[in-house]
Amino acid sequence: MGGSLSANEDLQKLVEEIAEALSIDVFIETGTHRGDTAMWAASRFRDVYTIEKSMKGYLAMQHVAEEAGVENLVALWGDSGSLLPDLLSLVKEGPILFWLDAHDGKHRPPIREELDAIAQHPYNHVIFIDDARLFGRQGLEGWPTLEEIGCRLEDSIVMLVRDAIVAYPPQYEQLLRPIIFSVPGATGL
Ligand SMILES: C[S@@+](CC[C@H](N)C(=O)[O-])C[C@H]1O[C@@H](n2cnc3c(N)ncnc32)[C@H](O)[C@@H]1O
Repeated sequence: MGGSLSANEDLQKLVEEIAEALSIDVFIETGTHRGDTAMWAASRFRDVYTIEKSMKGYLAMQHVAEEAGVENLVALWGDSGSLLPDLLSLVKEGPILFWLDAHDGKHRPPIREELDAIAQHPYNHVIFIDDARLFGRQGLEGWPTLEEIGCRLEDSIVMLVRDAIVAYPPQYEQLLRPIIFSVPGATGL
């Protein structure tokens, strides 16, 4: 389901421009899969963390990072809804750029727990949630609707850009608005 950030040039450029505008050094991904996005991020951010529930995906990530000699990427194995609060208790800085992409089509995705954990972290973060088209889709048991996501992020500016939801604090609006609207089709949620 869905594509990797590493294969979407519009969103890559957006992530890079936002990170540059806000001097963001830390990238946290949930849902590693094969590690394509994490490897892409490791070449652009100072520190990258990625969390994967499947042992196979986690081991594949470890292998790829080791083969490439990448040292600024930490792969974690487990449910991101449970691990993200622990990880954030150790990362005492911000803003962080989050790429929330943990789902498997079979279970309820951990997005609610992830957003709660991010809300508790005392910095102003930028949140990307991939695969916006899946939220509220019929047949996907336990997924929140886009409306629910909007309510959970009610203190943020929330945009739809390509197939991603992008949320950021209002104080970044002046800086980020032109960057976001440079992507064709970007619209408010
Ligand atoms: C769409 S793929 C991620 C793609 C990856 N982010 C990329 O850009 O290449 C979703 C991944 O989330 C993982 N996943 C599903 N539920 C999870 C959870 N609760 N915690 C962490 N990972 C989870 C799946 O095993 C799968 O590898």
